[in-house]
Amino acid sequence: MHRGVIHALAAVGLAVAGIAHASGTIEALARTCNNCHGVNGVSSGDAMPSIGGLPESYLKTVMMEWKEGKRYSATMARLIKGYTEEEISGLAAYFSKLPWTPVAQKTDPKLVERGKQATQACVSCHGPTGKAMMPTAPNMNGQIAKYLELEMRKYQDDSVPMPAMMRMMAKQVKPEDIEAIAHFYASQK
Ligand code: HEC
Ligand code: HEC
Repeated sequence: MHRGVIHALAAVGLAVAGIAHASGTIEALARTCNNCHGVNGVSSGDAMPSIGGLPESYLKTVMMEWKEGKRYSATMARLIKGYTEEEISGLAAYFSKLPWTPVAQKTDPKLVERGKQATQACVSCHGPTGKAMMPTAPNMNGQIAKYLELEMRKYQDDSVPMPAMMRMMAKQVKPEDIEAIAHFYASQK
């Protein structure tokens, strides 16, 4: 009896220690991400996307696709192979709880207007401004323009693995509209 209780208490102690350790580790891992993605996952520019505040389910899916070789990324595919599924889930939960912060960028008003017209077919899933409306689609309002442009080109490029659904959607976009679409979403608050 007595030993049973001690065992039970020890098990609880271990479980609690385990949780504390896990969350400490996720924060430490997240800091390595922020070296590239910016403080709290808010990008400081170039082609680097913001990741803080993206939907948890999207974050987990995209990281697992890289890990399993189903999605192309020059940088992330190699990097994420070193993480376990548990760590990936932890990182997805961690970043999804941060606020989504649209990044102020220089955008060309003519391109923004043209991009607005070119995204009429996208509203059903991405909303009028690209703000995430479903758990499987990422926020694009205030996302880095250059990054959005590169992703659209990857969807259109059959020589690299990318998810089929957005690939189908992206193929309906004229290549000369891609930059405009990127400027439009990047300019949204
Ligand atoms: C060496 C720089 C670097 C580090 C470190 C890094 N990333 Fe990335 N990440 C990128 C780049 C660059 C992209 C854009 C996709 C590409 O070009 O491969 C990206 C894209 C992403 C995206 C896609 C965003 C979107 O809108 O779809 C997610 C999610 C992501 N990274 C999560 C992470 C997490 C989580 C970590 C930490 C474990 C991390 N990244 C560490 C460079 C980095
Ligand atoms: C049927 C719903 C649907 C429609 C319509 C749709 N999308 Fe998407 N879009 C998604 C989903 C889901 C994702 C995440 C897919 C993935 O993992 O690649 C996505 C991802 C994206 C991304 C990548 C963002 C990132 O952070 O990596 C871009 C860019 C994009 N969509 C642009 C468009 C444009 C432009 C249109 C209209 C021409 C469009 N989408 C129409 C559902 C849709």
